[in-house]
Amino acid sequence: MLEDIQEILLSSEQLSARIREMGRQISADYAGKEILMIGVLRGAVIFMADLARAIDVPVALDFMAVSSYGASTTSSGVVRILKDLDEDVEGKHLLIVEDIIDSGLTLNYLLDNLRSRKPASIKICTLLNKPERRKVDVQVDYNGFTIPDHFVVGYGLDYAEKYRNLPFIGILKPEAYKS
Ligand code: PRP
Ligand code: MN
Ligand code: MG
Repeated sequence: MLEDIQEILLSSEQLSARIREMGRQISADYAGKEILMIGVLRGAVIFMADLARAIDVPVALDFMAVSSYGASTTSSGVVRILKDLDEDVEGKHLLIVEDIIDSGLTLNYLLDNLRSRKPASIKICTLLNKPERRKVDVQVDYNGFTIPDHFVVGYGLDYAEKYRNLPFIGILKPEAYKS
């Protein structure tokens, strides 16, 4: 696995320091409220697990699975719901948690879909943001890191389901996906 990594972009120390900051900011912004975190499976789970523990207001967890990538390295633009939420979100403060925003198509779809369920509020929190690749505009409320357009893996991000368990964000060697 490590032999496929060209360079470490964000170390586990950098990630945890930034996530602590994000947790403090979110806790302050939601003081006196309860958050319903909506994790976008599967990439967001590692970030979500760490972020939830950096927040000191009540946090409930629910998940949606949508897929636009499959085993390809570029977004097809087709978003499918593979798993819906278990809970009703009406009147709740939703915080959508993503590992990365790339084209923005996944979140654009999710936002439209969740808004129609009448939550009290919706905000977006992403660990990584690649604005260069954006196809639709998305308003991001909490952004961990803005990164250049490299193919990154680790800390939840995969290529063909591999590398999610790396504890850092690394740039994948082209030969690892161009074969
Ligand atoms: C990746 C990533 C985001 C989305 C971002 O998920 O985790 O959810 O793509 O891309 P976009 O902004 O272009 O829509 P993917 O579809 O690969 O599924 P996964 O989370 O299970 O890896
Ligand atoms: Mn994802
Ligand atoms: Mg993926």
